[in-house]
Amino acid sequence: MNFFNPFRAAKSDSEWFSVGLASSFPDIDSDNLFNLAEPRLCDNPSSTSDVIIKVPGCRVFHVPLGSPASQRTEVPLVLSDIMEGTTSDIGSSKPSSSPDSPNATNHPPEPEKQPEEEVMRDLKDQVLVFQYKGKFHAIDHKCPHQSYPLSHGIPFDIEDFGIALSAGITCPKHGWSFDLFSGRADRGNYRLKVWEVQLRDGTGSEGDKEVFVRRKQRMG
Ligand code: FES
Repeated sequence: MNFFNPFRAAKSDSEWFSVGLASSFPDIDSDNLFNLAEPRLCDNPSSTSDVIIKVPGCRVFHVPLGSPASQRTEVPLVLSDIMEGTTSDIGSSKPSSSPDSPNATNHPPEPEKQPEEEVMRDLKDQVLVFQYKGKFHAIDHKCPHQSYPLSHGIPFDIEDFGIALSAGITCPKHGWSFDLFSGRADRGNYRLKVWEVQLRDGTGSEGDKEVFVRRKQRMG
């Protein structure tokens, strides 16, 4: 017989893990609806100076299924890709000028970008965390349609007759949108994986919370 055991060790993929203080995430609102990873002003840049610091509007973590905490790592966002900002930029290995072209210069060749297929394959087990209009969201980094990185997506309000009912994210690759709470797509039966989020009393300044996320648990 299988009794519930409250002292059973938690499965590692069901463990919460911290992704940082709430104040380290810019609060994205409808006034700055660029793609998520675009650097933005942060409320608390953890600096006592007057220097204004911009940080990406989201963070990405690699969380292999069933991995110990030591194997969970933050994935650096490639800002050059982000700043260029269009889908075709990602993975484009075409040089800006060839040595034979009239515009060729003596500048060292640009490092080759990762091909798009590799970028997409590498998104496995990655969670994307961001704050939109004061609410934290954690979702799979890869778009459920064709695995495009949703850090390049744009969050928005889902409205009906001007009343905000929910929030969504639009993937720039083909323009599909997904509800940030249910994961439902605006077409087909595709579903975005939504992770659980908890805010706990943090170790930072008073009132600052720490953000924890974990994969959504299967019932039963
Ligand atoms: S890859 Fe995201 S909509 Fe197609």
